[in-house]
Amino acid sequence: MGKVLVAYSTWAGATHQVAEEIVKELNKKNLQVNIAAAKDVKTISEYQAVVLGTSIHAGQMTGDFKKFLKRFYKDLATKKTAFFVVCFNMIEDNDKNRVETLAWLNKTISKFSDIKPVSIGLFAGAAVTESDEFNRLNVLIKKLIESMKKSMDAERGKSDFREWEKIHAWATELVEKIS
Ligand SMILES: Cc1cc2nc3c(=O)[nH]c(=O)nc-3n(C[C@H](O)[C@H](O)[C@H](O)COP(=O)(O)O)c2cc1C
Repeated sequence: MGKVLVAYSTWAGATHQVAEEIVKELNKKNLQVNIAAAKDVKTISEYQAVVLGTSIHAGQMTGDFKKFLKRFYKDLATKKTAFFVVCFNMIEDNDKNRVETLAWLNKTISKFSDIKPVSIGLFAGAAVTESDEFNRLNVLIKKLIESMKKSMDAERGKSDFREWEKIHAWATELVEKIS
């Protein structure tokens, strides 16, 4: 099969790390995969399939996720496209939270109805404070994430809820769908 692009949009890097794990799984299945920050992608013409990830802030997909769709939706409509979402609402994976998270995603992707995703992954996220992306954030956002991390660590004993096995399983199931 042709090449696959895994593109991610992130504030502090949690979604980037999820994208890296997805790439590792796809590589194990001998797919040819490139990874890039969504904002750095200039063209998707060389790819047969595109996997696009975003985190959520205040019920919104990231700006880079929305810009990627606006830039490439015509092309995406002709390719196998999958989405994944990384957020705190999925810390508890139940029907209510899935419906709510999908509704947030749909607010954005329903504007691009020609894109028919082959799969949508909904994953619990993390408050990341040690990454290149975090270091590049403005001071107010850094403080916000730091205080979120502190209160989650205090209240729940952790602030990273990413379930790598679930992410790996989704990536493995994705192989057939994008082939
Ligand atoms: C300012 C802020 C607002 C957030 N708002 C939401 C939200 O509305 N819903 C949600 O489920 N998670 C929310 N989160 C959690 C993030 O989606 C989660 O931490 C995610 O893993 C961040 O990924 P990133 O580092 O790739 O941006 C918020 C986090 C921050 C810092």
